[in-house]
Amino acid sequence: MIDVSGSALPTQSVTEVNTNTWTNGRHMVRCARVIDETHDVKTFCFLTEQPVLFFFKPGQFVTLELEINGQPVMRSYTISSSPSTPYSFSLTIKRVGGGLVSNWLHDNLNEGDLLPVHGPVGNFNCIDFPAKKVLLLSGGVGITPVMSMARWYYDTSSDVDMVFIHSARTPMDVVYHGELTNMCSRVPNFHLHLISEREARGVPWSGYRGYFDQAKLDMMVPDLHEREVFCCGPEPYMDAVKALLKANNFNMEHYHEESFGSTPDSVEQDAIDQAEEAEETLDAVNSADMLTVEFTEAGKSIQILPGETVHTAAANLGMHIPKACGMGICGTCKVKKTAGEVEMNHNGGITDEDVADGYILSCCSVPTGHVVIEK
Ligand code: FES
Repeated sequence: MIDVSGSALPTQSVTEVNTNTWTNGRHMVRCARVIDETHDVKTFCFLTEQPVLFFFKPGQFVTLELEINGQPVMRSYTISSSPSTPYSFSLTIKRVGGGLVSNWLHDNLNEGDLLPVHGPVGNFNCIDFPAKKVLLLSGGVGITPVMSMARWYYDTSSDVDMVFIHSARTPMDVVYHGELTNMCSRVPNFHLHLISEREARGVPWSGYRGYFDQAKLDMMVPDLHEREVFCCGPEPYMDAVKALLKANNFNMEHYHEESFGSTPDSVEQDAIDQAEEAEETLDAVNSADMLTVEFTEAGKSIQILPGETVHTAAANLGMHIPKACGMGICGTCKVKKTAGEVEMNHNGGITDEDVADGYILSCCSVPTGHVVIEK
């Protein structure tokens, strides 16, 4: 939800030293700056009213709570800034052809606007997987989480040896080109390799051409097996990277990937897939193990397999419960439970008060018996 009146929170520069720290939850933030990175990529920088130290693990993401065409929409984006500059945080977003949210943000989110964000969360980060040598791989706007990591290592004068390989469609699509080049020119432990799929007429290009392949891997990362690998980009890019690493017998325990660079639109599809899977295994399960979920307003009930969520139960019945993150972060899928017990594995998307009032997040709530939902 955007407040464009500009009256609720004054824009201010940070002068105070008494700051709060950022914890996972719902926060109102103000867009303080919009930066054009390339012809179709913008960086949105956010502040809060009170100076808040935006500490997070480089690579993590937040979920934006928006209202587009009168409909609530939740969308997650990895943070592109680094916690080493903690007085604001940034999201770098590419305009996607037909992309409802990215286009809306490019066209409507302006300096001064307010919006709620949820997070930060995410297991894809360089703090939980410490290493002396890392390989940062990105394709397109998937650069954002690995840029956060690179900025973190660089700003903190870390002695981590970084190889940063970024692939873009054309030289005009390289995000943070100037900053990356500058970082590479200033410290010896930052090794930058830029790859452009093709040239752009009239734009000089001194980087590599084509795709990240075996020859480039051999040349750019001769010590591959000594590195922790962090990869983000479109699915085909990450699939190609994984195939390349596996072909080189890389220990995939040291490979980490994130796909939030292009937020999946597939959460509803996941529910449908789960429902189909459940149907297939239904016959094999003893009916005594099945659990009943009842939806009072719809006047429907269904039996589900142990371990399936309330959201899946609704999907199996053809009922629509809005869902965004699918991870208990955003609160979109909240419903009221009037009877029965669930195990809810959420990530901060619901308050203690809501839980006390009987609400659950259907995406991450697994019934432990007969459950009744007011829906
Ligand atoms: S969909 Fe985000 S909490 Fe359930």
